[in-house]
Amino acid sequence: MAPGSGIKILGISGSLRKASLNTGLLRSAEKAIPEGVEFTIADISGLPMLNQDLEGKGPNGVIEFPEVVEAWRKQVAGADAILFSSPEYNYGLTAALKNAIDWASRPPNAWDDKPAAIVGAGGGVKAYQSNRVLRLSGIFLNLHFINKPETQFAIRDPGLFDWSTGDLLTEEGNQRVADTVTALVAWTKRLQQ
Ligand SMILES: Cc1cc2nc3c(=O)[nH]c(=O)nc-3n(C[C@H](O)[C@H](O)[C@H](O)COP(=O)(O)O)c2cc1C
Repeated sequence: MAPGSGIKILGISGSLRKASLNTGLLRSAEKAIPEGVEFTIADISGLPMLNQDLEGKGPNGVIEFPEVVEAWRKQVAGADAILFSSPEYNYGLTAALKNAIDWASRPPNAWDDKPAAIVGAGGGVKAYQSNRVLRLSGIFLNLHFINKPETQFAIRDPGLFDWSTGDLLTEEGNQRVADTVTALVAWTKRLQQ
């Protein structure tokens, strides 16, 4: 077995839309996953809005979560690396993504010490503002983001996306996502050494 193989990457889209362009970026990433690496696209649509009243106290002060939240936290904790595809809502993260991040951050922090990368599709300034906001949260969460390549797409680029499905259409675009996957796998192997 090649060193570093067996890596599990969790792909998380910040959009709940069926034809989301950002979820389309994760499908593009899926096509570029090398042999021996596992890739799963998470479904964060069923998570309740974070409300600490939904938390219970177990033995030894351990926090108990609703079943769907517990499953989400387990999925995050079981991943070796995270690939976020983050849209931009009002210069920030979508509520859905922030909510999913916050649930998994409750003690013990499921994001702790994980390598991560960000891709995104947004409007005039692509999704760079949400990228910045996510990186800022990543400091507190102790996520280790790759810096390059920067893989941001402008949603209005003619011919870039199929808006009926969210699929990324161009060879160049798909290659940029593939390069991000390559960099994330290499970064994950490096951190695992
Ligand atoms: C509430 C809301 C706020 C938005 N704010 C921004 C923004 O600040 N910057 C931006 O580039 N696009 C903004 N957009 C446009 C999104 O980038 C666009 O809808 C994008 O396609 C969403 O990603 P998705 O296709 O993955 O759902 C906003 C869209 C919505 C619905």
